[in-house]
Amino acid sequence: MLAIEASNVVKSFGDFTALKSISLNIRKGEFVAITGKSGSGKSTLFYSLSGLDVIDSGHVLVLGNNIHNLPQEDLHDFRNTKMGFVFQFHYLVSELTGLENILLPAKKKNLHKEKREYALYLLDYFAIAHCKDKLPSQMSGGERQRVAVARSLIMNPEIIFADEPTGNLDSINSEIVMNIFREINLKNKTTVILITHDDEYAHLADKEIRLKDGEIESDISHKK
Ligand SMILES: Nc1ncnc2c1ncn2[C@@H]1O[C@H](COP(=O)(O)OP(=O)(O)OP(=O)(O)O)[C@@H](O)[C@H]1O
Ligand SMILES: [Mg+2]
Repeated sequence: MLAIEASNVVKSFGDFTALKSISLNIRKGEFVAITGKSGSGKSTLFYSLSGLDVIDSGHVLVLGNNIHNLPQEDLHDFRNTKMGFVFQFHYLVSELTGLENILLPAKKKNLHKEKREYALYLLDYFAIAHCKDKLPSQMSGGERQRVAVARSLIMNPEIIFADEPTGNLDSINSEIVMNIFREINLKNKTTVILITHDDEYAHLADKEIRLKDGEIESDISHKK
């Protein structure tokens, strides 16, 4: 089964068409980099493929589910359990601690007690155990980003969507975050869809989909 199958996805904002009939397939367990210049439509594609925003036409199957046809409640539930998100501008909840932020997706399913141990493991594993009781404002940018990555993993999702997760990080922290993604892809066979402007990271992916002006400019496999 494919992780994602998109056909002729069109998305506009007013009379500006940000995605012009995008079709793509992403296999389960694949590590895919989405690249392209600023404004080429990467984040819009991220929102369209994950059902975080509506599309004008076309369809998107995620793990065989036509997500743009699911009732809102089912879509929320599907996203919460099958997909993990790391946003371009990390959306940690400022009033919640590191641990509470990581447990947020579990809390929605009333699974925060069961997931607490895994959250503590992730804090430890990502070397941010000292951020357990800190608020985001008391963490460094790299720590916040690792909390966001830990949160995206807490439900053991099948697909991780990450929009420039290393965008605001120095090279050491970028390397840490990228290694985490590669490891979960290799170990857990999690499908990773990574938006990046960094050519070096894009080359580490199995496949690179490059956007230009809302269209796929190239779709290159890096696997030998
Ligand atoms: N809510 C919106 N309303 C109007 N136009 C939008 C909206 N969101 C995005 N756009 C436009 O759609 C185009 C694609 O935006 P998008 O955010 O997908 O780009 P991007 O490739 O993610 O860029 P970046 O690398 O800067 O994050 C841009 O021209 C942008 O101005
Ligand atoms: Mg973007």
